Amino acid sequence: MDYFLIDGPTPLHGEVRVAGAKNAALPLMAAALLARGESVLTNVPELRDTRFFLELLRELGVGGSLEAGTLRLDTSGTGEALEAPYDIVRKMRASIYVLGPLLAAHGEARVSKPGGCAWGPRPVDLHQAGLTALGAEVAEEHGYIVARCRGRLPGGRFRFEPVSVGATCNVLMAAVLARGESLLENCAREPEVVQLGEALIAAGARIEGLGTRALRIQGVDELRPLRAAVIPDRIEAGTFLAAVAVAGGRVSLAGCRGDHLEPILGVLRDLGTEIHAEGELLIAERRGPLQPIKVETRPFPGFPTDMQAQIMAAAALAGGISRITDTIYPDRFTHAAELERLGASIEVKNGTATIIGVDALQGAPVMATDLRASAALVLAGIAAQGRTEVRRVYHIDRGYERIEERLAALGARIRRCRD
Ligand code: EPU
Repeated sequence: MDYFLIDGPTPLHGEVRVAGAKNAALPLMAAALLARGESVLTNVPELRDTRFFLELLRELGVGGSLEAGTLRLDTSGTGEALEAPYDIVRKMRASIYVLGPLLAAHGEARVSKPGGCAWGPRPVDLHQAGLTALGAEVAEEHGYIVARCRGRLPGGRFRFEPVSVGATCNVLMAAVLARGESLLENCAREPEVVQLGEALIAAGARIEGLGTRALRIQGVDELRPLRAAVIPDRIEAGTFLAAVAVAGGRVSLAGCRGDHLEPILGVLRDLGTEIHAEGELLIAERRGPLQPIKVETRPFPGFPTDMQAQIMAAAALAGGISRITDTIYPDRFTHAAELERLGASIEVKNGTATIIGVDALQGAPVMATDLRASAALVLAGIAAQGRTEVRRVYHIDRGYERIEERLAALGARIRRCRD
């Protein structure tokens, strides 16, 4: 199994280009199932998760190839296989994204029910209830979610509570091919949801309200194949910026979208990182000591839960007491105990981590528990004195392209090893 060896502390200097967003690419890949013919997505990140998703689409009869960031998905052979099997879903929860498109395009879909995840329960009840509201019959059979409709879905009205990125995307994808009109309320408005909506509109869908909490959709008879360039990954960008906060130095980010990053930039500035734009580049620099922060994660345009672990690594080194509350996933704190192994002082209670800043972190063996937790441990390892060994880095490979090579190019002493 792969692991990282990191020798710290080293500040980071140089330029890095942000890759396409995993969480935008996955729903777009699922949306290809809605149209007949070849969809083409560009700027697709080459990650474990995008490869898994391609594997799932192939199981469903899609012909696909991913080369140099261009993904071609040919759906002319779909319609026979309508099942996302347990073996794929258990490796990647986002497999649930095929439920809505398969149902809308072929009248039936079976997706193995995702279980809990590394940090606790992650229900999919809103995906099921939303499709039911559009007129599907949804049942659970032998560990599978089975959705059916006779002919096309009628369409309907549904309110998401709480706001859900995944359920909004899934129900939206089903609604675009419905017979009638649908009204979706309290929708997620993350940039990844907006990109999906824009790609669907470009393919012929009729959607109003994109980027707001209410979407009104007039179903259409068919869609053209999708064409989209995946937006830059705001979480990857935020992770590199957080790396500068944790380790110090000056890094230029190329190819990111400042408007998608606003909620993250505010917190990084509160921590004491200077950030400014220079033409196409976003420059982050830390000159002085880190300041304590008070942060609550919220749906976009709030601070993202996917950045919570990385800023905790910075807060661990701030001069004072920080508080980080995850209102989206109150149990998403498995990184806290691992950061403590590096010398951080963190107490987690009722969804809030209280972090008492320390002067320095010390290298130690730690274990990655999920994607963003592993990123936090890597950042902390770069800033820590001595050697840090991060185990189970397959988690980080799900969502970051060759992260160790790109951090090494910025001056980190990090390398991948194999047992
Ligand atoms: N929720 C429900 N019922 C549902 C669905 C969600 O109660 O049917 C709740 C969740 O328990 C949570 C809240 O709604 O409290 C928001 O969850 P959401 O559905 O938005 O999460 P998701 O769609 O499963 C996506 C990202 C996650 C990211 C969350 C929140 C993808 C593939 N995944 O998950 O990304 O944390 O939105 O922004 O887009 C990651 O990239 O590391 C990652 C975990």
